[in-house]
Amino acid sequence: MRMGSFQALANPSSLLLVNIAIGFILLFGGRLVNNGHFMQGDVVALVQYMNNILLALNILVNILLVFSRGIVGIRRIDEVLVLEPTIISGSNEVNQNEPMALTFDNVTFAYGSRHTIENISFHIQPGDFFGIIGGTASGKSTLVNLMLRNDDVNEGEILVNGDKLQSLDLTQYRQAIGLVPQTAKLFSGTLRENLLMGKVNISDEVLWDTLAIAQAKEFVAKTGGGLDLVVNEGGKNFSGGQRQRLTIARALVGKPRLLILDDATSALDFATEAKLRTALNRLNTTVVMISQRVSSVQHADQILVMNKGQIAGIGSHEALLETTEIYQAIVDSQLQQQGGASHE
Ligand SMILES: Nc1ncnc2c1ncn2[C@@H]1O[C@H](COP(=O)(O)OP(=O)(O)OP(=O)(O)O)[C@@H](O)[C@H]1O
Ligand SMILES: [Mg+2]
Repeated sequence: MRMGSFQALANPSSLLLVNIAIGFILLFGGRLVNNGHFMQGDVVALVQYMNNILLALNILVNILLVFSRGIVGIRRIDEVLVLEPTIISGSNEVNQNEPMALTFDNVTFAYGSRHTIENISFHIQPGDFFGIIGGTASGKSTLVNLMLRNDDVNEGEILVNGDKLQSLDLTQYRQAIGLVPQTAKLFSGTLRENLLMGKVNISDEVLWDTLAIAQAKEFVAKTGGGLDLVVNEGGKNFSGGQRQRLTIARALVGKPRLLILDDATSALDFATEAKLRTALNRLNTTVVMISQRVSSVQHADQILVMNKGQIAGIGSHEALLETTEIYQAIVDSQLQQQGGASHE
Protein backbone atom coordinates (compact mmCIF):
# COMPACT_ATOMS: atom_id res chain seq x y z
CA MET A 1 0.00 0.00 0.00
CA ARG A 2 2.77 2.38 0.98
CA MET A 3 4.66 1.61 -2.23
CA GLY A 4 1.47 2.18 -4.22
CA SER A 5 1.03 5.68 -2.78
CA PHE A 6 4.74 6.38 -3.23
CA GLN A 7 4.46 5.45 -6.92
CA ALA A 8 1.28 7.45 -7.37
CA LEU A 9 3.12 10.49 -5.99
CA ALA A 10 6.62 9.94 -7.44
CA ASN A 11 5.79 9.59 -11.14
CA PRO A 12 3.67 12.74 -11.55
CA SER A 13 5.98 14.83 -9.36
CA SER A 14 9.09 13.90 -11.36
CA LEU A 15 7.11 14.69 -14.53
CA LEU A 16 6.08 18.05 -13.07
CA LEU A 17 9.63 18.96 -11.93
CA VAL A 18 11.23 18.10 -15.25
CA ASN A 19 8.57 19.95 -17.23
CA ILE A 20 8.95 23.06 -15.05
CA ALA A 21 12.69 22.87 -15.74
CA ILE A 22 11.99 22.58 -19.48
CA GLY A 23 9.72 25.62 -19.20
CA PHE A 24 12.56 27.64 -17.63
CA ILE A 25 15.01 26.45 -20.29
CA LEU A 26 12.64 27.60 -23.05
CA LEU A 27 11.95 30.94 -21.37
CA PHE A 28 15.53 31.94 -20.49
CA GLY A 29 17.14 30.03 -23.36
CA GLY A 30 14.81 31.87 -25.77
CA ARG A 31 15.92 35.26 -24.38
CA LEU A 32 19.58 34.26 -24.59
CA VAL A 33 19.07 33.20 -28.21
CA ASN A 34 17.45 36.62 -28.91
CA ASN A 35 20.46 38.40 -27.31
CA GLY A 36 22.74 36.29 -29.44
CA HIS A 37 24.44 34.56 -26.45
CA PHE A 38 22.98 31.14 -27.26
CA MET A 39 22.38 28.99 -30.35
CA GLN A 40 18.89 27.52 -31.04
CA GLY A 41 20.52 24.07 -31.14
CA ASP A 42 21.77 24.52 -27.54
CA VAL A 43 18.18 25.03 -26.32
CA VAL A 44 16.97 21.95 -28.16
CA ALA A 45 19.86 19.94 -26.71
CA LEU A 46 19.07 21.09 -23.15
CA VAL A 47 15.40 20.07 -23.55
CA GLN A 48 16.55 16.67 -24.80
CA TYR A 49 18.84 16.25 -21.73
CA MET A 50 15.93 17.05 -19.43
CA ASN A 51 13.85 14.35 -21.10
CA ASN A 52 16.69 11.85 -20.54
CA ILE A 53 16.75 12.79 -16.87
CA LEU A 54 12.98 12.26 -16.68
CA LEU A 55 13.37 8.75 -18.12
CA ALA A 56 16.09 7.93 -15.58
CA LEU A 57 13.93 9.20 -12.70
CA ASN A 58 11.03 6.99 -13.79
CA ILE A 59 13.25 3.92 -13.96
CA LEU A 60 14.68 4.71 -10.50
CA VAL A 61 11.16 4.85 -9.03
CA ASN A 62 10.29 1.51 -10.65
CA ILE A 63 13.45 -0.16 -9.36
CA LEU A 64 12.66 1.01 -5.83
CA LEU A 65 9.17 -0.39 -6.22
CA VAL A 66 10.21 -3.81 -7.54
CA PHE A 67 12.80 -4.23 -4.80
CA SER A 68 10.45 -3.35 -1.97
CA ARG A 69 7.85 -5.80 -3.36
CA GLY A 70 10.55 -8.47 -3.41
CA ILE A 71 11.50 -7.76 0.21
CA VAL A 72 7.85 -8.02 1.30
CA GLY A 73 7.67 -11.36 -0.59
CA ILE A 74 10.69 -12.72 1.27
CA ARG A 75 9.15 -11.79 4.62
CA ARG A 76 5.83 -13.44 3.63
CA ILE A 77 7.56 -16.71 2.68
CA ASP A 78 9.11 -16.69 6.13
CA GLU A 79 5.69 -16.14 7.76
CA VAL A 80 4.25 -19.13 5.92
CA LEU A 81 7.21 -21.39 6.69
CA VAL A 82 7.10 -20.83 10.45
CA LEU A 83 3.36 -21.70 10.64
CA GLU A 84 2.77 -24.79 12.77
CA PRO A 85 -0.02 -27.16 11.64
CA THR A 86 -2.76 -27.50 14.24
CA ILE A 87 -3.82 -30.96 13.03
CA ILE A 88 -1.08 -33.23 14.32
CA SER A 89 -0.92 -36.91 13.46
CA GLY A 90 -1.08 -39.52 16.19
CA SER A 91 0.93 -42.73 16.06
CA ASN A 92 -1.60 -45.56 16.41
CA GLU A 93 -1.91 -47.94 13.48
CA VAL A 94 -5.15 -48.03 11.50
CA ASN A 95 -6.76 -51.33 10.58
CA GLN A 96 -6.68 -51.40 6.76
CA ASN A 97 -8.34 -54.80 6.39
CA GLU A 98 -11.75 -54.50 8.02
CA PRO A 99 -14.58 -52.07 7.32
CA MET A 100 -14.32 -49.08 9.60
CA ALA A 101 -16.51 -48.36 12.62
CA LEU A 102 -17.12 -44.69 13.29
CA THR A 103 -18.59 -43.00 16.36
CA PHE A 104 -19.45 -39.36 16.94
CA ASP A 105 -19.79 -38.76 20.67
CA ASN A 106 -21.55 -35.46 21.47
CA VAL A 107 -19.55 -33.56 18.85
CA THR A 108 -19.81 -29.77 18.61
CA PHE A 109 -17.90 -27.73 16.09
CA ALA A 110 -17.75 -24.10 14.90
CA TYR A 111 -15.90 -22.59 11.93
CA GLY A 112 -16.15 -19.16 13.55
CA SER A 113 -17.89 -18.12 16.74
CA ARG A 114 -21.34 -19.64 16.08
CA HIS A 115 -21.71 -23.40 16.39
CA THR A 116 -22.04 -25.00 12.96
CA ILE A 117 -23.01 -28.38 14.37
CA GLU A 118 -24.07 -29.14 17.92
CA ASN A 119 -24.20 -32.25 20.13
CA ILE A 120 -23.95 -34.76 17.30
CA SER A 121 -23.88 -38.40 18.44
CA PHE A 122 -24.18 -41.51 16.29
CA HIS A 123 -22.51 -44.86 15.83
CA ILE A 124 -21.83 -46.51 12.47
CA GLN A 125 -21.22 -50.26 12.62
CA PRO A 126 -18.49 -51.75 10.40
CA GLY A 127 -19.90 -52.47 6.96
CA ASP A 128 -23.07 -50.45 7.48
CA PHE A 129 -24.70 -48.25 4.88
CA PHE A 130 -25.23 -44.95 6.70
CA GLY A 131 -27.36 -42.23 5.15
CA ILE A 132 -27.28 -38.52 5.99
CA ILE A 133 -30.06 -36.27 4.75
CA GLY A 134 -30.93 -32.66 5.49
CA GLY A 135 -31.54 -29.26 3.97
CA THR A 136 -28.85 -27.10 2.45
CA ALA A 137 -26.35 -25.68 5.01
CA SER A 138 -27.59 -28.07 7.70
CA GLY A 139 -24.00 -29.20 8.37
CA LYS A 140 -23.70 -32.39 6.30
CA SER A 141 -20.42 -31.51 4.60
CA THR A 142 -19.13 -30.23 7.93
CA LEU A 143 -19.60 -33.75 9.33
CA VAL A 144 -17.47 -35.02 6.42
CA ASN A 145 -14.82 -32.40 7.17
CA LEU A 146 -14.60 -33.69 10.72
CA MET A 147 -14.59 -37.36 9.61
CA LEU A 148 -11.56 -36.59 7.42
CA ARG A 149 -9.95 -34.69 10.28
CA ASN A 150 -9.53 -31.58 8.15
CA ASP A 151 -10.61 -29.84 11.34
CA ASP A 152 -10.62 -31.00 14.95
CA VAL A 153 -13.83 -31.01 16.97
CA ASN A 154 -14.37 -28.26 19.57
CA GLU A 155 -16.22 -30.49 22.01
CA GLY A 156 -16.93 -34.20 22.18
CA GLU A 157 -15.01 -36.96 20.47
CA ILE A 158 -14.76 -38.97 17.26
CA LEU A 159 -13.84 -42.63 17.66
CA VAL A 160 -12.56 -44.83 14.83
CA ASN A 161 -12.76 -48.57 15.56
CA GLY A 162 -12.94 -47.53 19.22
CA ASP A 163 -9.74 -45.42 19.10
CA LYS A 164 -9.70 -41.64 19.44
CA LEU A 165 -9.32 -40.11 16.00
CA GLN A 166 -6.54 -37.83 17.26
CA SER A 167 -4.46 -40.82 18.33
CA LEU A 168 -4.37 -42.33 14.82
CA ASP A 169 -1.65 -42.04 12.20
CA LEU A 170 -3.21 -39.46 9.89
CA THR A 171 -1.69 -40.71 6.63
CA GLN A 172 -2.81 -44.29 7.30
CA TYR A 173 -6.24 -43.11 8.38
CA ARG A 174 -6.83 -41.02 5.28
CA GLN A 175 -5.55 -43.89 3.11
CA ALA A 176 -8.33 -46.02 4.52
CA ILE A 177 -10.96 -43.49 3.43
CA GLY A 178 -12.40 -43.01 -0.04
CA LEU A 179 -13.99 -39.60 -0.47
CA VAL A 180 -16.24 -38.48 -3.28
CA PRO A 181 -16.51 -34.72 -2.72
CA GLN A 182 -19.62 -32.67 -3.36
CA THR A 183 -18.20 -31.20 -6.57
CA ALA A 184 -16.76 -33.81 -8.94
CA LYS A 185 -13.22 -32.78 -9.89
CA LEU A 186 -11.49 -34.30 -12.91
CA PHE A 187 -8.15 -33.14 -14.27
CA SER A 188 -6.84 -32.87 -17.81
CA GLY A 189 -4.96 -36.05 -18.70
CA THR A 190 -6.01 -39.64 -19.31
CA LEU A 191 -8.76 -41.51 -17.52
CA ARG A 192 -6.10 -43.82 -16.04
CA GLU A 193 -4.26 -40.87 -14.47
CA ASN A 194 -7.53 -39.50 -13.15
CA LEU A 195 -8.37 -42.80 -11.46
CA LEU A 196 -4.92 -43.53 -10.05
CA MET A 197 -4.14 -40.01 -8.77
CA GLY A 198 -0.54 -41.02 -8.21
CA LYS A 199 -1.22 -44.47 -6.75
CA VAL A 200 1.20 -47.13 -8.04
CA ASN A 201 1.10 -50.91 -8.55
CA ILE A 202 -2.56 -51.03 -9.51
CA SER A 203 -3.44 -53.10 -12.56
CA ASP A 204 -5.79 -52.04 -15.34
CA GLU A 205 -8.03 -54.94 -14.35
CA VAL A 206 -8.59 -53.40 -10.92
CA LEU A 207 -9.38 -50.06 -12.53
CA TRP A 208 -11.98 -51.68 -14.81
CA ASP A 209 -13.50 -53.37 -11.73
CA THR A 210 -13.87 -50.05 -9.96
CA LEU A 211 -15.41 -48.53 -13.10
CA ALA A 212 -17.90 -51.40 -13.13
CA ILE A 213 -18.88 -50.83 -9.49
CA ALA A 214 -19.27 -47.10 -10.14
CA GLN A 215 -21.56 -47.89 -13.12
CA ALA A 216 -19.10 -46.17 -15.45
CA LYS A 217 -17.70 -49.19 -17.29
CA GLU A 218 -20.35 -49.23 -19.98
CA PHE A 219 -20.05 -45.65 -21.16
CA VAL A 220 -16.24 -45.71 -20.93
CA ALA A 221 -16.12 -48.89 -23.03
CA LYS A 222 -18.47 -47.31 -25.59
CA THR A 223 -16.13 -44.38 -26.22
CA GLY A 224 -13.46 -46.83 -27.44
CA GLY A 225 -10.66 -44.92 -25.74
CA GLY A 226 -10.43 -47.34 -22.80
CA LEU A 227 -8.31 -46.19 -19.86
CA ASP A 228 -6.32 -43.90 -22.19
CA LEU A 229 -9.46 -41.89 -22.82
CA VAL A 230 -8.59 -38.20 -22.86
CA VAL A 231 -10.09 -36.14 -20.05
CA ASN A 232 -10.28 -32.40 -20.72
CA GLU A 233 -9.67 -29.72 -18.10
CA GLY A 234 -12.37 -30.08 -15.41
CA GLY A 235 -13.74 -33.16 -17.21
CA LYS A 236 -15.72 -30.90 -19.55
CA ASN A 237 -16.00 -33.64 -22.16
CA PHE A 238 -18.22 -35.67 -19.80
CA SER A 239 -21.77 -35.11 -18.59
CA GLY A 240 -22.36 -34.24 -14.93
CA GLY A 241 -23.53 -37.77 -14.12
CA GLN A 242 -20.59 -39.34 -15.95
CA ARG A 243 -18.18 -37.10 -14.04
CA GLN A 244 -19.79 -38.15 -10.75
CA ARG A 245 -19.43 -41.84 -11.60
CA LEU A 246 -15.76 -41.38 -12.56
CA THR A 247 -15.00 -39.66 -9.25
CA ILE A 248 -16.78 -42.49 -7.43
CA ALA A 249 -14.58 -44.98 -9.31
CA ARG A 250 -11.53 -42.96 -8.29
CA ALA A 251 -12.52 -43.13 -4.61
CA LEU A 252 -12.83 -46.91 -4.88
CA VAL A 253 -9.35 -47.49 -6.34
CA GLY A 254 -7.60 -47.57 -2.97
CA LYS A 255 -10.05 -50.18 -1.60
CA PRO A 256 -11.31 -47.85 1.11
CA ARG A 257 -12.56 -49.14 4.47
CA LEU A 258 -14.81 -46.11 4.75
CA LEU A 259 -16.39 -44.67 1.63
CA ILE A 260 -17.91 -41.19 1.93
CA LEU A 261 -20.15 -39.91 -0.84
CA ASP A 262 -21.04 -36.25 -0.32
CA ASP A 263 -24.05 -35.64 -2.53
CA ALA A 264 -22.12 -37.57 -5.17
CA THR A 265 -25.09 -39.14 -6.92
CA SER A 266 -27.25 -36.05 -7.39
CA ALA A 267 -26.88 -36.16 -11.19
CA LEU A 268 -27.62 -39.88 -11.57
CA ASP A 269 -31.01 -41.17 -12.63
CA PHE A 270 -32.85 -43.38 -10.15
CA ALA A 271 -32.13 -46.68 -11.94
CA THR A 272 -28.38 -46.05 -12.22
CA GLU A 273 -28.24 -44.93 -8.60
CA ALA A 274 -30.03 -48.09 -7.46
CA LYS A 275 -27.52 -50.26 -9.35
CA LEU A 276 -24.66 -48.30 -7.81
CA ARG A 277 -26.11 -48.81 -4.30
CA THR A 278 -26.40 -52.54 -4.86
CA ALA A 279 -22.78 -52.71 -6.08
CA LEU A 280 -21.53 -50.67 -3.12
CA ASN A 281 -23.42 -52.91 -0.71
CA ARG A 282 -21.42 -55.91 -1.93
CA LEU A 283 -18.11 -54.21 -1.12
CA ASN A 284 -16.33 -54.94 2.12
CA THR A 285 -16.55 -51.36 3.33
CA THR A 286 -18.56 -48.95 5.46
CA VAL A 287 -20.48 -46.44 3.35
CA VAL A 288 -21.60 -42.96 4.35
CA MET A 289 -24.02 -41.58 1.76
CA ILE A 290 -25.01 -37.93 1.99
CA SER A 291 -27.92 -36.86 -0.15
CA GLN A 292 -30.80 -34.44 -0.53
CA ARG A 293 -32.91 -37.24 -2.00
CA VAL A 294 -34.89 -39.69 0.11
CA SER A 295 -34.52 -42.37 -2.58
CA SER A 296 -30.72 -42.35 -2.12
CA VAL A 297 -30.80 -43.08 1.60
CA GLN A 298 -34.11 -44.82 2.33
CA HIS A 299 -32.56 -48.31 2.15
CA ALA A 300 -29.70 -47.39 4.49
CA ASP A 301 -29.20 -49.28 7.77
CA GLN A 302 -29.52 -45.96 9.57
CA ILE A 303 -30.44 -42.49 8.37
CA LEU A 304 -29.28 -39.35 10.16
CA VAL A 305 -31.57 -36.37 9.60
CA MET A 306 -29.74 -33.07 10.02
CA ASN A 307 -31.52 -29.78 10.64
CA LYS A 308 -29.69 -26.48 11.21
CA GLY A 309 -26.62 -28.20 12.62
CA GLN A 310 -28.51 -30.49 14.96
CA ILE A 311 -29.85 -34.02 14.79
CA ALA A 312 -33.55 -34.02 13.97
CA GLY A 313 -33.76 -37.79 14.04
CA ILE A 314 -31.85 -41.00 13.50
CA GLY A 315 -33.06 -44.47 12.56
CA SER A 316 -34.39 -46.53 9.69
CA HIS A 317 -36.66 -45.10 6.99
CA GLU A 318 -39.73 -46.71 8.59
CA ALA A 319 -38.86 -45.55 12.10
CA LEU A 320 -38.17 -41.98 10.98
CA LEU A 321 -41.52 -41.82 9.17
CA GLU A 322 -43.13 -42.55 12.54
CA THR A 323 -41.04 -40.28 14.72
CA THR A 324 -39.48 -37.41 12.81
CA GLU A 325 -41.67 -34.66 11.39
CA ILE A 326 -38.90 -33.08 9.32
CA TYR A 327 -38.22 -36.42 7.65
CA GLN A 328 -41.91 -36.90 6.93
CA ALA A 329 -41.98 -33.43 5.37
CA ILE A 330 -38.97 -34.20 3.15
CA VAL A 331 -40.53 -37.50 2.06
CA ASP A 332 -43.87 -35.86 1.32
CA SER A 333 -42.37 -33.02 -0.72
CA GLN A 334 -40.26 -35.41 -2.81
CA LEU A 335 -43.00 -37.93 -3.41
CA GLN A 336 -45.33 -35.12 -4.50
CA GLN A 337 -42.77 -34.15 -7.13
CA GLN A 338 -42.82 -37.71 -8.38
CA GLY A 339 -46.60 -37.79 -8.71
CA GLY A 340 -48.12 -37.67 -5.26
CA ALA A 341 -47.74 -41.29 -4.09
CA SER A 342 -48.16 -42.17 -0.41
CA HIS A 343 -45.29 -42.86 2.05
CA GLU A 344 -44.99 -46.42 0.87
N1 LIG B 1 -14.96 -23.56 5.56
C1 LIG B 1 -15.98 -22.92 6.12
N2 LIG B 1 -15.78 -21.79 6.81
C2 LIG B 1 -16.79 -21.13 7.41
N3 LIG B 1 -18.07 -21.54 7.39
C3 LIG B 1 -18.34 -22.65 6.72
C4 LIG B 1 -17.32 -23.40 6.05
N4 LIG B 1 -17.91 -24.49 5.46
C5 LIG B 1 -19.21 -24.40 5.76
N5 LIG B 1 -19.49 -23.32 6.51
C6 LIG B 1 -20.80 -22.96 7.04
O1 LIG B 1 -21.31 -24.05 7.80
C7 LIG B 1 -22.68 -24.26 7.57
C8 LIG B 1 -22.93 -25.70 7.15
O2 LIG B 1 -22.33 -25.91 5.90
P1 LIG B 1 -22.22 -27.35 5.24
O3 LIG B 1 -21.30 -27.21 4.06
O4 LIG B 1 -21.84 -28.34 6.25
O5 LIG B 1 -23.71 -27.58 4.74
P2 LIG B 1 -24.34 -28.81 3.94
O6 LIG B 1 -25.35 -29.43 4.81
O7 LIG B 1 -23.26 -29.67 3.38
O8 LIG B 1 -25.10 -28.05 2.75
P3 LIG B 1 -25.32 -28.51 1.21
O9 LIG B 1 -26.44 -29.48 1.18
O10 LIG B 1 -25.70 -27.22 0.54
O11 LIG B 1 -24.03 -29.06 0.72
C9 LIG B 1 -23.09 -23.24 6.52
O12 LIG B 1 -23.80 -22.21 7.15
C10 LIG B 1 -21.80 -22.72 5.94
O13 LIG B 1 -21.88 -21.37 5.63
MG1 LIG C 1 -22.57 -30.08 1.51
